[in-house]
Amino acid sequence: MSKFTLVVTTVSLFKIVLGICFFETSTTWDEDWYNQRGIIDFSSIICHNTTVADFTYELFELNVDRQESTFLQLSISYSNFSFIRYLINPVHIHKNKKNYYDFSGLSLNYCGIEQIVKDAFKDFKNVTEIDLGYNEINNLYFVSFLPATVTKLNLTNNKIQNVNFDLFLNRLDALDLSFNRIIRLVFNNLGLFGSWLRRVQKILNLNNNNITEIEFLPIFPPAAESINDLQLNLANNNILRVNFNNTLFTIQLKLLNLSNSLHNIEIFPFNLLLPNILDVSDNVGLKLDKTYNFAFLNSINFSNCSIDNINSRIFQGNSYEYLNFSGNNLGLIKDAIFAESYIQELDLSYTKFKNVQYMFQNCKLNRLHLSGNNITILNSRSFINVNEILWLDLSFNNLTLYYNSFVNCKGLQFLNLGFSNISSLKGSTFTGLTDLRVLNLQNNLLKNLEPKIFKPLIKIQTINLSNNKLSILATQLFNSLPLKYIYLSGNQLERIESNAFCNITQLKVIQINNNTGENLKIENEAFYQLMNVNKLELRNCNLTEFNAKYFSETSIQNLDLRNNNLRHVDFTNHTEYIDLKEFDLTIKGDLKAKSFLKLIFLQKITFWDSEIHNWENRTFQGLFNLETLNFKNSKIEHICVGALHGLFTVTQLDFQNIFRGKNKIHSCTFKTLHSLKFLNLSYIGLRNLESLAFVGLENLKELNLKFNLINCFENLTFSGLDELEVLNLSFNNLSNLKADNFKGLNNLKVLNLNNNKIAEINIGAFQTFPKLETLSISHNNLTKFKIGAFSHLQSLETLNLENNSISNLLLESLLPLTSLKVLNLEFNNLKTIGHIDIVYQFINLRHMGIANNKWKCDYLADILLILKKRKIGYSALYPNFLDDNIEGIRCIDVCKFLFCLQDTHGIN
Ligand SMILES: *[C@@H]1O[C@H](CO)[C@@H](O)[C@H](O)[C@H]1NC(C)=O
Ligand SMILES: *[C@@H]1O[C@H](CO)[C@@H](O)[C@H](O)[C@H]1NC(C)=O
Ligand SMILES: *[C@@H]1O[C@H](CO)[C@@H](O)[C@H](O)[C@H]1NC(C)=O
Ligand SMILES: *[C@@H]1O[C@H](CO)[C@@H](O)[C@H](O)[C@H]1NC(C)=O
Ligand SMILES: *[C@@H]1O[C@H](CO)[C@@H](O)[C@H](O)[C@H]1NC(C)=O
Ligand SMILES: *[C@@H]1O[C@H](CO)[C@@H](O)[C@H](O)[C@H]1NC(C)=O
Ligand SMILES: *[C@@H]1O[C@H](CO)[C@@H](O)[C@H](O)[C@H]1NC(C)=O
Ligand SMILES: *[C@@H]1O[C@H](CO)[C@@H](O)[C@H](O)[C@H]1NC(C)=O
Repeated sequence: MSKFTLVVTTVSLFKIVLGICFFETSTTWDEDWYNQRGIIDFSSIICHNTTVADFTYELFELNVDRQESTFLQLSISYSNFSFIRYLINPVHIHKNKKNYYDFSGLSLNYCGIEQIVKDAFKDFKNVTEIDLGYNEINNLYFVSFLPATVTKLNLTNNKIQNVNFDLFLNRLDALDLSFNRIIRLVFNNLGLFGSWLRRVQKILNLNNNNITEIEFLPIFPPAAESINDLQLNLANNNILRVNFNNTLFTIQLKLLNLSNSLHNIEIFPFNLLLPNILDVSDNVGLKLDKTYNFAFLNSINFSNCSIDNINSRIFQGNSYEYLNFSGNNLGLIKDAIFAESYIQELDLSYTKFKNVQYMFQNCKLNRLHLSGNNITILNSRSFINVNEILWLDLSFNNLTLYYNSFVNCKGLQFLNLGFSNISSLKGSTFTGLTDLRVLNLQNNLLKNLEPKIFKPLIKIQTINLSNNKLSILATQLFNSLPLKYIYLSGNQLERIESNAFCNITQLKVIQINNNTGENLKIENEAFYQLMNVNKLELRNCNLTEFNAKYFSETSIQNLDLRNNNLRHVDFTNHTEYIDLKEFDLTIKGDLKAKSFLKLIFLQKITFWDSEIHNWENRTFQGLFNLETLNFKNSKIEHICVGALHGLFTVTQLDFQNIFRGKNKIHSCTFKTLHSLKFLNLSYIGLRNLESLAFVGLENLKELNLKFNLINCFENLTFSGLDELEVLNLSFNNLSNLKADNFKGLNNLKVLNLNNNKIAEINIGAFQTFPKLETLSISHNNLTKFKIGAFSHLQSLETLNLENNSISNLLLESLLPLTSLKVLNLEFNNLKTIGHIDIVYQFINLRHMGIANNKWKCDYLADILLILKKRKIGYSALYPNFLDDNIEGIRCIDVCKFLFCLQDTHGIN
């Protein structure tokens, strides 16, 4: 959210438009960078297609109160600024004594800037970042004169050819010179780059130039400290020659990016630059056939370099955090290239390997990526030399698994065998994987699984078998494993045997969605003893039947049966109760009486995309914990009058969906909904409310009947709503209010009758509302009131009568309203009003809306004088200063037509 207080004319939440400039709070920024500098919020004033005179004018119009820790940026783009002499019009600075903005950032993009005069930015006293990307700058003369506060300078996409790093190095934290025309680089004083007092990350981007030659000149005096946090980006250049003319000092870079920049790895003195992370990806033709010393690097990315040979001495016996060789051609390598080394993560994906058993002699590896290779056979010798492997990705290969394939991977915790055309598993395939936590077999061709295939996986938590061709889930398959997640979606299941998930005490999620099998048969007790399942999903499985016999001693938080072919569900004939809390389902058929009887723990039930022909009486009887009953995108053709009976505990019900299109509410429909507090029946086309329609809603606080077609009530319609406090009847067809209409609403506080056709209020119409505080009858056809229309409303504080045709207001009719605080009479036809009497009669009156009546200006002035004296507010909701008015309240200036000579009342 914005931390600005804005004082401008057009205000929208995040964007304030003001001519050519607008104000915006922004969310897309590099959080780490700004958080390190204590900046929390980020906002911009953005101007397009402007000139110095125009945007400075607007800056002074836009009044923004800046708070600390907010980064306020001025962004100008698509304007013509080829020559910048100054950016703030001196005339404005002179005229406005108050300092203008305290900008932290300044950006000028796509402005065709060619030249910047020495002190052009001197008015930006506090600016820390300047972005001049996408211009025509070829000369860096201005840089020495930038305000001393600047630490980040972005010159991407300009025409710079020559740089002298002395200019920047001792004060900038970030310099972006990418996409320029630099051919040769000379680092004179790299050792002093940035300010060493603040330990923040430093960035030097030189990517996408045409650098062919780099020279590192010595540092004088030699820097005692090395650079730890510099990220040097030299990607997409054409580096042919590097001269490191002093071997006495080293620089330790955080990151050196030489992606697509280098043909020959020998020319770079990595041993002197010591990058923690080195990226040499995409250097096609890179050779690793000699011996290079990479022992001091932590992480190297060699991906996509078409490497086909690796000198075995380069990586042997060393240790790395991360080596990435993906997308090379290592398939023919037979040497033990990683022998005796320790590599935390090694990426050999898409490298055309057939066989990996040669390269790892006594190598310690934690994570190994082998996806997308041409590995076809996995047998007991495949991983014979890999030690300590925890994580192995073999996805996207064409695998045939033999006996004991992973017997040498003791300690493996994660194994990905997905998308690998595996058609069968041997009984001992997983032998030895006693530490495995996650096994992914998704998207293979598995049809049958041997019943004890997963038995060796004594610590397994997740098995993903989705998108295979399984047809049967057998009893013993997962027996007694410590599984938490089982994914079986997208198979061709025809049978789930009884006890298919037995003795899996920690199971949390079972997904069996989208099965294409013709007719899935679930055997009785299939979900026997699932003690703590959060979610059992059986969506879209062609199920025609579902009943309580599938469960026993089961506790499921959420059962999802959406999009099957269920015509009804039956949880009646079962000996025990089923502990199910949330139920999502689709029914195309009937809701039968008592069909959920055994789900007494159910708290929430949602019908999705259902077509219910007949909703019988007492369908939900026995659900003593049900709180929410929803119908999403569903149709209900017929509801029996007692359909909702038995829902004693429900607090949330989709009444709009249930009753949409039913034009009548029958007596006793809500008879047992004792817990309901809020009933929304708006927008459903109701015409008729039978007498006793709401009986039973003894705790209802709010009833919304807005936007219906109700034109009258029966005498006992609202009977039984003893606790009702808010009744909304706006936008109906009511025309006449009678005394008996509202019997039973003894506690009503708010009554909304706006936008009806009420022309008359009978005497005593509101007499049953001793506690009514707010009565709103705006947008009706009222012209006057009988004495007694408002009788017994001694608690009424707000009376809203705006937008009627009232031309005459008798004080006597208002007299019962002894507590009146707000009286709104705007948009009526009043010419006179007993204002003096009103003001003295209603001592609590705080506001009286009177705008848009037919006041004469003299008379209005008189009213306002009295109201002002008594400190009663009267300001108009829609002030009008265009016509004759006093303080925005329209009036008829009779004087004007009579050629009066004096303007005595200060008419505007
Ligand atoms: C810039 O404004 C001028 C007139 O103010 C207009 O003719 C031109 O089309 C605008 N250009 C852009 C890119 O908005
Ligand atoms: C510059 O910013 C700092 C910190 O935000 C503030 O204390 C100082 O008053 C500002 N200086 C000017 C000239 O606005
Ligand atoms: C410089 O600007 C470009 C384009 O807006 C952006 O992509 C890049 O990240 C910026 N450089 C730095 C160091 O913020
Ligand atoms: C890069 O520089 C070489 C000469 O050093 C030149 O032949 C080539 O055209 C330049 N490439 C670009 C894109 O400027
Ligand atoms: C190294 O720098 C010295 C002094 O700047 C210079 O004389 C010498 O030629 C340089 N050596 C190379 C190989 O460039
Ligand atoms: C994979 O290996 C088989 C023979 O083992 C070969 O026929 C096939 O072309 C190889 N595929 C790729 C993508 O290298
Ligand atoms: C895997 O085998 C299939 C057919 O058996 C073949 O179409 C595909 O190219 C093979 N993939 C690889 C990586 O060899
Ligand atoms: C579940 O485990 C118990 C005890 O470990 C065992 O007696 C019972 O046979 C198991 N159930 C099945 C169906 O294997």
